[in-house]
Amino acid sequence: MKKALITGITGQDGSYLAELLLKKNYKVLGMMRRSSIFNTIRIDHLYKSYPKNFDTEYGDLMDETSIYRIINDFRPNEIYNLGAMSHVGVSFKTPKSTLTYNTLSTFNILETIKMIDKKIKFYQASSSEMFGATPPPQNEKSHFLPQSPYGISKVAAFHTTRLYRNSQNLFAANGILFNHESPRRGLNFVTRKVTSNIPKILKKEINEIAFGNIDTRRDWGFSGDYVEAIWKILQQKKPDDYVIATGENYSVKDFIKECFKIVGLDWKNFVTYNNINYLRPSEVQSLKGNATKAIKKLKWKPKVKFKSLCRMMVEADLKEQGLSLNEARKLSKNVKKN
Ligand code: NAP
Ligand code: GDD
Repeated sequence: MKKALITGITGQDGSYLAELLLKKNYKVLGMMRRSSIFNTIRIDHLYKSYPKNFDTEYGDLMDETSIYRIINDFRPNEIYNLGAMSHVGVSFKTPKSTLTYNTLSTFNILETIKMIDKKIKFYQASSSEMFGATPPPQNEKSHFLPQSPYGISKVAAFHTTRLYRNSQNLFAANGILFNHESPRRGLNFVTRKVTSNIPKILKKEINEIAFGNIDTRRDWGFSGDYVEAIWKILQQKKPDDYVIATGENYSVKDFIKECFKIVGLDWKNFVTYNNINYLRPSEVQSLKGNATKAIKKLKWKPKVKFKSLCRMMVEADLKEQGLSLNEARKLSKNVKKN
């Protein structure tokens, strides 16, 4: 039985990856940090469904003694390093801690692997945000021109991973993942901000949503598809770096428009702008990935595309707030414009 350690287990991708590995009969240990309230909502079902093969352990990516203890005790075959301060906008407000967490965490784990067992395979959650100002389409050969402290931190972690692969002969690989979303996406990322607030508009709890720049374009896929690629990256004969993307991009405005259309509302009546809170000091204008290498070598392909993703997320948030799509469409007839 293979054993996998996942950092960032309480996050969106951590939960989908754990589910995938457990279905493949892995034993999975998630590392999580202590928080003042329980934040295991995305993984609670896994403790119940896989009592023997799934567990979590307290640790912190900044505390290398905790990393050493967990890896030494658990002896994983594979480590998936998904833990990070992952919000680009917030990284402008907390640049030092973002750089510290997202970069040193990778060093801490790779150094520990080097000390304990060089056969442990390592996956680093790299990001399309690293391409920054480089125009699309972006692939593994595109330049990194990061536009945020988050982007800079991920470039450093990317190169750290390559360095340990080349200089220490470790199986250390990067997945350069473009934006991926799901009903489990954090509420302050733009897609989930849209889909979680639409039911509130329908129930007249709020009458508008405020955004920053909605002309930026992103290549949005589904997290459930992307964790398949993450797993495949560690199953290759040799460690390498792969772009994971759908190859299509849409503006934030397109996303908003499509989601409001699903419930029968005209988005223009409910959108306002708040440049102080949501406009970023510098922006990544357009991301569109070329995943030809992954499609060919990993034999991976995204199943969920833009419109199905919008529908999946809208329906899930309606359900979470007690509404069916039919009920939502009926309610939309009585919701007045702003
Ligand atoms: P997420 O939902 O924000 O989850 C991040 C996870 O990291 C959470 O479990 C968080 O724990 C944990 N974490 C943060 N700092 C930590 C620390 N010091 N010690 C231990 N754990 C810590 O992010 P995601 O969307 O699942 O993304 C997973 C990874 O992929 C991240 O590294 C992200 O940067 C990267 N990535 C994401 C995307 C995307 O579109 N989703 C694209 C490219 C790359 P708490 O719950 O305690 O906060
Ligand atoms: N979050 C947010 N909130 N974004 C907004 C808003 C708003 O109110 N209004 C406009 N946007 C714009 C952002 O400026 C950005 O151009 C775009 O919507 C997407 O923002 P996010 O959903 O926050 O994602 P991101 O692209 O910045 O970062 C995500 O993708 C990266 C991969 O490219 C995160 O998941 C990162 O962790 C990931 O690495």
